[in-house]
Amino acid sequence: MGSRRLHLNLFIHDTGHHEASWRLPSSDLRANLSLAAHQHLARVAEAAKFDSLFLADSPVMFGDPGRRPSGRIEPTVLLSALAVSTQRIGMIATASTSYNEPFNLARRLASVDHLSGGRAGWNIVTTAGDAAARNFGLEEQPLHKTRYERADEFLDVATKLWDSWADDAIVADKGAGVHAVRDRVRAIAHSGTYFSVDGPLNLARSPQGHPLLVQAGSSEDGKEFAARWAEAIFTAQPTLAETQAFYADIKRRVVAAGRNPDHVLVLPGIVPVLGETEAEARELEAELDRLIAPEYAVAQLAQLLRVSPDRLSLDEELPADLPSEDSIEGAKSRYTLIVDWARRDRLTVRELIGKLGGGRGHRTFAGTPVQVADTIQHYFENGAADGFNIMPAVLPSGLDAFASSVVPILQERGLFRTEYAGVTLRDHYGLPRPGNRLDSGDAGVAS
Ligand SMILES: Cc1cc2nc3c(=O)[nH]c(=O)nc-3n(C[C@H](O)[C@H](O)[C@H](O)COP(=O)(O)O)c2cc1C
Repeated sequence: MGSRRLHLNLFIHDTGHHEASWRLPSSDLRANLSLAAHQHLARVAEAAKFDSLFLADSPVMFGDPGRRPSGRIEPTVLLSALAVSTQRIGMIATASTSYNEPFNLARRLASVDHLSGGRAGWNIVTTAGDAAARNFGLEEQPLHKTRYERADEFLDVATKLWDSWADDAIVADKGAGVHAVRDRVRAIAHSGTYFSVDGPLNLARSPQGHPLLVQAGSSEDGKEFAARWAEAIFTAQPTLAETQAFYADIKRRVVAAGRNPDHVLVLPGIVPVLGETEAEARELEAELDRLIAPEYAVAQLAQLLRVSPDRLSLDEELPADLPSEDSIEGAKSRYTLIVDWARRDRLTVRELIGKLGGGRGHRTFAGTPVQVADTIQHYFENGAADGFNIMPAVLPSGLDAFASSVVPILQERGLFRTEYAGVTLRDHYGLPRPGNRLDSGDAGVAS
C-alpha cells in the first residue's frame, strides 16, 4: 500500500444534489431545517471515516421556494450543533468575504474550532450575484476583481487576528495571579484599502492555529487566490482531462506562490448514483431527470447565462451569441464550464438542464459500487485528485449507499483509512498546523 491516502468530504445539500431529489416519495421535505437529518448525515459520514463534511451557503435566497425546498440554517451555527453530535469528523462552513467583516467572521470560525476541538474549516467564497448585494445596501455586486481583492485583504486580516494570541500566551498561573503574558496578546493594527482593524481577537488561538482554509473559485483570480491561501480546493470539472489540467495548474501556481504543493489538496466534486447493476443506477438517474420541471430549470439556466429565458428552446442548442466570460461579473468559471460543455457535446437545452440538474456542473457517475470505486481510484492515481467532494444525488439514501458499498471497496484497496489517525481536521487531511504569522514576522501565509 502506498503512503498516499484518498480524502473524502461529504457535501451536504438538503434532500440531495439532484435538483429533483425532493420529489422522491422517500425525501424529508424539512431536511434543510432539521437538526436530526444533519446529525444522521454527520454520523454516517463519521462512521465511514470521511475526513470532513461541508455546508454551502450564500446570504441570499437561492433557488425558487415556489418550486423546491429553499433556505438553510446558517452554517457556523449548524456546525456548533454538529460538533456536539460527532467526535472526529472535520466540519467546513461556507462564509462570504464580500458580505462579512473580518473580525466577526474570524471570531465565529475560531469559536467553532474551539468548540469542536480543532475540526473547523472555512470555505471562502466571494459570493456571486446582484441579488446578494441587494441584501447589503448595494444595487449590484462589486466587480469580480474587486471581490477577490477584498477577499485577499480579508484573509490577511483574519489570519493576523487568529494569530494575535500567541500559542504560549496563556500561562494560567493562579498562584502568581498571571493569566496571560500581556505582550503575547497583540494588537494587529491593520489599516488597508477595505478594512481597519485594531485587534487583538477576543479569543485565544484555536486548536488548529486557525480553521482549515478551503476555496472553490476556478477563474484566474480564483485560482491565484487559492494558490496564496487555500489548503483544500473544491472544484467542478466535467471530464478527466479537464480535472487533470486543473490539478496540474493549481499545483504549479501553489509552487509559484512559494508554498508546498502537497499542502494544498484538490478535491473535485462527483455525484455518485449507485445501483446494484449499472442498469439500475442509470434508471435511478433517468427517474430523477424526468422529475425536473423544465420551465424552472430553463429559467435558472437563463439567469446563469445572462440571457432572457425566451432565447432558450428546449430542443435546440444554446444561442451562438452568448456573453463572453470577460463580461461575467458573477461566477465566471461555472459559466465557462457550462457553455464549453454544451458546445463541445452539442447538447440541446433539454440535455444540458438534465446534466446540470444532476449536480450543477459537477460530474455524475452512475454505476455499481465497483464502477464508482474504480473511477475514484483512476482519478486519484492519474494526477486528477487528492480526494473527492462526495455529492450524493439523493440524501440520506445516497450517502448510506456510498458509505456501505463504495467506502469498503476503497478501504480494501488500501486507498482509504479504516480508522482516524488524528483528532483535528488538519490531521485527517495530513496538513501541518500553521505557524504564527505575528511571531515569524511573516507577511504572507504559512504553509
Ligand atoms: C463544490 C463547490 C462548492 C461551492 N460552494 C459555494 C457556496 O457555498 N457559496 C458560494 O457563494 N459559492 C460557492 N461555490 C462557488 C465558488 O465559490 C465560486 O463562486 C464559483 O466557482 C465561481 O468562481 P470564480 O468566480 O472564481 O470563477 C462553490 C463552488 C464549488 C465548486
